[in-house]
Amino acid sequence: MSHKVGVIGGDGIGPEVVAEALKVVAAAGVALDTVDYDLGGARYLRSGEVLPDAVLEEIAGLDAVLLGAVGMPDVPPGVLERGLLLRLRFELDLYVNLRPLLGAGADLPRIDCMVVRENTEGSYAGEGGSLRKGTPHEVATQGSVNTRMGVERCVRFAFELAESRHRRHLTLVHKTNVLTYAGDLWQRTVDEVSAEFPDVGTGYHHVDAACMYLVGSPECYDVIVTDNLFGDILTDLGGAVAGGIGLAASANLNPARTGPSLFEPVHGSAPDIVGTGTANPLAAVRSAAMMLDFLGETTAAERVAKAVAEASTLTGTTKQLGDAVAERV
Ligand code: IPM
Ligand code: MN
Repeated sequence: MSHKVGVIGGDGIGPEVVAEALKVVAAAGVALDTVDYDLGGARYLRSGEVLPDAVLEEIAGLDAVLLGAVGMPDVPPGVLERGLLLRLRFELDLYVNLRPLLGAGADLPRIDCMVVRENTEGSYAGEGGSLRKGTPHEVATQGSVNTRMGVERCVRFAFELAESRHRRHLTLVHKTNVLTYAGDLWQRTVDEVSAEFPDVGTGYHHVDAACMYLVGSPECYDVIVTDNLFGDILTDLGGAVAGGIGLAASANLNPARTGPSLFEPVHGSAPDIVGTGTANPLAAVRSAAMMLDFLGETTAAERVAKAVAEASTLTGTTKQLGDAVAERV
């Protein structure tokens, strides 16, 4: 059965890395029925449209979405982030953002960690506003939304993942000593759900300490569960530690499978290097491997992951790296 996959190349290096990812998927023998969507900065600048409702509705009927990157210097901050990326995450209820931190290369620290980032709440929920804007008495508030349901489903996903792994350990990362309301909800939820997973050991780190440990002793982590904003920051840091952001993949998952999940590299559109052939496609390739895995194409997913590991020490252009992985698959 072929899978119906929406492809959003997006802006900057997005289309370049997505092309390599699709090449590798084809080499792995998986036939995708792809539909291209022209979304991102270029469409916005041309037409003022970010994500028309009809397009969202169509995407909601697909099996998966592969996204390169969106963002252009001429587009004001927030337009594409809130209007496209976050809207897709929220409306498709992609409540887990799964980000592997996987060291590749002999000279890198031993890190084999999965970050489970809550993806539909927290400070990303858009709660807040401004008052008396532009005056000396301006007020801006930006709240963090944490619901029991939202926290619990994310925490439960993290426990299930930890249970399936060899080390069976889960670390909650938060800032419970300062964010006492949200932190208390997260900690109590972890404590309560942990009773259902007696084989999974649990721990807790404050987010500032977790940054230090990620750099100094990243092998201490197996599965990390954390809120939306902490997860955003931690996975850029973790990506850099694990070999560079050019390798960092992510899966925005709807674990209930009531609609498509979305797979994208952690990196952005990098407009400064567009067209130079220097963008690393491996983060996009790894994201595509996560997509194959979620679509049930587990053998192909494993072959791609293995080929990426073998190719990750190579250097070359975007296309050469894509070819190198495709050959090894
Ligand atoms: C990411 C990105 C996004 C985020 C931005 C572009 C909205 O940084 O996927 O990590 O903050 O989640
Ligand atoms: Mn980010």
